[in-house]
Formats: sequence, structure tokens, C-alpha cells
Amino acid sequence: MALGAGLVTLRRFSRSVPRRALAGHTAVTRTAPKVPGLPRKAATVLAPPEEILGIKPDEKYNVPAGVREKLGKNLLLNEKHPLGILWKTVQDYFAEQDPNCKFFDTEKPVVSTVECFDKLRVPPDHVSRSPSDTYYVNADYVLRTHTSAHQCQFLSQYPEISSFLCAGDVYRRDEIDASHYPAFHQCEGVRLFDAQKVSKEEVMEDLKKTLEGLAAHLFNLKTGEDTMRWLDEYFPFTEPSVELEIFYQEDWMEVLGCGVIHHDVLRNAGLDPEKVHGWAFGLGLERLAMVLFGIPDIRLFWSDDERFAQQFTAQSFTEKTKFKPFSKYPPVLKDISMWIPEEFVDNDLFEMIRDEGGDQVEKVDLLDEFTHPKTGRTSKMFRVTWRDMSRTLTNEEVNTKHEKVLERVVEELKVELR
Ligand code: PHE
Repeated sequence: MALGAGLVTLRRFSRSVPRRALAGHTAVTRTAPKVPGLPRKAATVLAPPEEILGIKPDEKYNVPAGVREKLGKNLLLNEKHPLGILWKTVQDYFAEQDPNCKFFDTEKPVVSTVECFDKLRVPPDHVSRSPSDTYYVNADYVLRTHTSAHQCQFLSQYPEISSFLCAGDVYRRDEIDASHYPAFHQCEGVRLFDAQKVSKEEVMEDLKKTLEGLAAHLFNLKTGEDTMRWLDEYFPFTEPSVELEIFYQEDWMEVLGCGVIHHDVLRNAGLDPEKVHGWAFGLGLERLAMVLFGIPDIRLFWSDDERFAQQFTAQSFTEKTKFKPFSKYPPVLKDISMWIPEEFVDNDLFEMIRDEGGDQVEKVDLLDEFTHPKTGRTSKMFRVTWRDMSRTLTNEEVNTKHEKVLERVVEELKVELR
């Protein structure tokens, strides 16, 4: 089973490797917007609301209703929800390690592009900022794409705050399958040190020791080379950057990305790197919760189904509760085969399908892709798996929604059905 939610999280900034290839999914090539730098209007956007959390939309707005509904669900604040249980467990570990550590989990998910990208040294033309990857409220505000968006605001409160965790819901336009969802959760961690007393090497040592301890605590492992390994990574906001993998259930699994906070980031937060420096890490919570509690599908975290909610209590981590799957209802499969225009972006299609189908869309797979040798036109064939988690879908009701998808792809994405 591909448990890739965290892979997306970590590979987003890598320079060398296409994240989709690494995430173990069909390697899908991304078509760049036709006019670089020009905001490409997302195809599936409905009328914008007056405001989102106090921020007024403009023509760059591209948040579909289905994503907007997730704002304010506060799953992390529910102590009987697997994500809330995991967040609490991480806090307990840090509280014990470091009595000064402060915890934040009610920051607004709408943040400025300055806090989300600029202050973190994400270049203006980086793909992670493009409207095909990120939800914009307006030209200056986005749904946060990572909890690192809050780093500078808390760093600037040093010395009152010298170590903190900040967790919350984050949003990225993405493909659809059991481990990818446009909304998920991250936890950011930072610890600062007096630069006159603690060397950069010691900062790195403390980082590794602390995070190995966290992984050992979460997964009940002994620290050591056969269970944990560190790999070089790249993030614009840390230098050096590394990621931690653990050997778990017969395989190496990525747990988190981290590093020593880049000096420019410290300066952007008003700190003097000669006087203070430190480390930061980012943890994707869904994938860890999926592994820890045996949850097979990322959509379950958002489901209102009692059969899910009732299985967890505040003690579920200590009691090693494993999710007991309720029976799966049969799927309905629908294929979409089409000639695509040059500017076609897979994410637009995924989002449109999700817009029509909501959580009844289990996944969308690219089954076939080829370019006609004579005309140079490209054809793609996608298979949409429709499945409801609490009842059997009829072919008729899926057909109605599928027809709507077809109508919209033709009209809004300018494809030609085959
Ligand atoms: N924000 C990074 C991501 O979402 C994770 C990260 C946080 C890496 C802090 C290093 C330091 O991929």
C-alpha cells in the first residue's frame, strides 16, 4: 500500500527529484502554465465568498467549496480523533523533554505569501507557489501549504519563546488516492540556542537526538542504525537539511524533514544569527496516524461515520488501538478518455472530479497516455473509482455525476473526449 501523504510533504522542495515519481504514483508530467507568471485561473472554482477568515478574495481566488468546508473542522482539537490523539502524544513527548516548549494549534490557516514563502526563501517562481499547487484567496493570501508559514512569527518572539510546536491543517492541490487529500495536517517544531554557547554541530546533534527520541516513542523502536537513518534533503529554509526514515513493518518509511534554520530566515524574523540559532522540523500527521492506527484511507479522517469515530478514545495511543475496517461497498468505475490541450494540468481535472463527487471519489488513476506521431496531440485516459464509505452506489447516480464531470472537462478544460 502506498502511504504517501508525507512524501508529498517532504518532496515538495527537493530540487532534483520529481516528487510524484518518488511518491510511488504514476509519474505524471506537469504542464507549465502557458504564459509563465500569469495566474492561471483554476477551472473548478465556484463563486467566491465575501471573505475567508477576514481576507477578501480577488481574481486569483481558486478555493473550491469542498476545500473551503474543511476550514474550521479543527480535527486536531478533538482528543478522540486519531489526529488529535497523535498531536497530544507529540506534545506530551516534547513537554517532558523540554519544559519550556510552547504549543500552538489555533493559528488561522489563511496566511500571507510573505509568511508562507518569501520569508522562508521559497523563490517567486517555485512550483509550490503556483496556483496549480496552492489555493489562493487573493494575490497576497493563501491557505497555508505548510505549518512553516508560522515559523517567523514565533521566532520573532525570542527570547520569550525559545522552543515551540505549532500544528494545524494545511492545504495543497493534489492528486486523489487513498493517501492524498487536498487538506491534511502538519506539526512544526523549533528549538533555539544561544549561538555564543552552542555550535552549529551541537544544534544538529540535538536535533537528531530529539527526533530519534520522538520516532522511538511513537513507533516503540530502539534508536540505532538498523531502525533509523538520516538522508540528505533540500529545503530552502534550512541548511543543512535532512530527513529521518525509520524501518517499520519491513520497510523504510519517511517520517519527517528538518534541518538547521537558515540564517536568512532568522534575519527575516528579526533575529541576529550571531546571537541565536536553532533547528526546525516538519511532521506530516496523517501518514503517521495511518500507520500507527492502521487507517487504510486518508478520507476516513474527515468522515462523520460513527463506525470510525467510535473506535478511538484519548487512550488509543497507549492502548495501541488498531482501526477495524468496516466492510467496503462495491466501487463503480468510470473512464475518461480525451485529447488534451497543451495547457492541461492534471490537478485541474482531479479537483473538478472531487468538486462533483466529493468523498465518493476514491481515486483517479492515469491508465494511458500517448502522443499522436502525426498530429502531435496528446491523449490521456483516466479511471475514476467511485465508492461511498457507508452504502452501495448505484450506477445511475454515478452516471449523473460522471456526465456532469464530462460536460465540465469539455467546457472548462477544453479537452476533446474520445
Ligand atoms: N515545511 C516542510 C514541508 O512541508 C517541512 C519542514 C519543516 C522541513 C521545517 C524542514 C524544517 O515539506
